[in-house]
Amino acid sequence: MNQFDSLSRRAIEAPESGIVAVVNHGRLKPGLIPLWAGEGDEPTPDFIARPAADALMAGETFYTWQRGIPDLRQALADYHAKHFGKQLPLDAFCVTGSGMQAIKIAIEAVVDPGDEVIHLSPAWPNFSAALRLSGGVPIAAELDYAEGRWSLDPDRIASLITPRTRALFINTPSNPTGWTATIEDLTAILDLARKHGLWIIADEIYTRFFYAGGRAPSFLDLMEDEDRILFVNTFSKNWSMTGWRIGWIVAPPSIIQVLENSVQYQTSGVAQFMQKGALAAIEHGEDHVEAQVAKAARARDLFCDALTSTNRVVTQKPDGAFYAFFRIDGITDTRAAAIDIVDKAGVGLAPGTAFDRGGEQFLRACFLRRLDHIEEAAERLASYISSL
Ligand SMILES: Cc1ncc(COP(=O)(O)O)c(C=O)c1O
Repeated sequence: MNQFDSLSRRAIEAPESGIVAVVNHGRLKPGLIPLWAGEGDEPTPDFIARPAADALMAGETFYTWQRGIPDLRQALADYHAKHFGKQLPLDAFCVTGSGMQAIKIAIEAVVDPGDEVIHLSPAWPNFSAALRLSGGVPIAAELDYAEGRWSLDPDRIASLITPRTRALFINTPSNPTGWTATIEDLTAILDLARKHGLWIIADEIYTRFFYAGGRAPSFLDLMEDEDRILFVNTFSKNWSMTGWRIGWIVAPPSIIQVLENSVQYQTSGVAQFMQKGALAAIEHGEDHVEAQVAKAARARDLFCDALTSTNRVVTQKPDGAFYAFFRIDGITDTRAAAIDIVDKAGVGLAPGTAFDRGGEQFLRACFLRRLDHIEEAAERLASYISSL
C-alpha cells in the first residue's frame, strides 16, 4: 500500500475547494478583476493592525488564555449587548482561530461519528466537508428558488429529521445565495430543534451585511437560556481581517469548558497580540463596519442592475451577505463557464458546482469591492453575456 492509500478514509475523501481550480487558472492573468473569494479588497485598517503590532513588539508572545483574553471576551459581551440587546456572561464566549475553526469546534462538541446534521443548500461547502472529516453525515435541505429569489420551506427540514439527526446548521444571511431568514423562518427552525432535541449551529457571520437596515434577524432574538444553540462567528468580514484567522463562539456557559478543551487540543489558543487587534476592532470599529456595509450596498445595486439589464440573467438583489449568485441563461456547465469568463472577460467568478446541491447552475460573485472595479466587472460580464 502506498503512502496516500494508507491515509485515513476521511482524510483522503476531504474534497479540494471547487473554487481553487478556477483561481489557479486565472490567478496570474493581468488585469483580471477577482470576485471569486469571499472577502473585500481593503487591507485591515491601521486602528486594528497597530495595537496588534505594538503588542507583538512589546513581547506579548507567550501562551495565553485558551478561551480568549478576558478583555476581548468582555468586548464581545458588550458587542452582543449593543447589537442584539442580549446581556451574556463572559463565560458564554470562546475566542477561536477563525470562523472556520469555530465551526469545527462546534461540530466536535455536538456530533458523534455517524450523526447527521441538516444544513441548507446551496451552501458554502466548508461546513459539510468539516463535518465529514469529523465522521458526521451532512444532509442537504435545499432552499426553493423562483424568479431569482431563494426561500426556505421549513417542512423540508422537518422531513429530513431522523433518529440520527443531531443538529441543524443554519447560515443566515447565506453564502452564497444571500437568502436571509425572517423571524418567522427562525421561529419555525427553533421550534423544530426544540421538538426534536437538536442543537442549532448558527452561522450568522454576515448578520451586519443586511440591506434592509440594521442587522439581520438572529436566533439571539428568540432564544431562551435552555436552548441548545452554538453561534459561530468571525472577525474576518466585518473588520477586513480575513487573513488574521480569528473568530469566536457564543455558547451556553455550561459547555464553555468543553469548547475550551477543543481549542486546547487544536491550537491552544489565539496569539495574544492578535487578540489585541481584535479588541481594537470591536472597540473602535463601528464606523469601519458601517462603511463596509454601505460600500457593499452600493456595489450590490450596481452589479445586480447590470446583470438584470442583459435580459439573460434573472436575479433579485440579495437581502444579506455580499454575494450575487446568479444563473446566466444558456449556461449549464458553470465550471467551464467560470474558466471561459476568466479568459474572455477577465473577471474571476466562483462556479456554482462548489456550493453543494441546487447551486450547480449558478455563478457567485463577491461584490465587496471598490465601485469602479465592480462597474468594470459588470460591464465586462454584460458584454461576455451578450456575446453568447
Ligand atoms: C458562511 C461562512 N461561514 C464561515 C466562514 C468562515 O470565515 P473565516 O474562517 O474567515 O473566519 C465563511 C467564510 O467565507 C463563510 O462564508
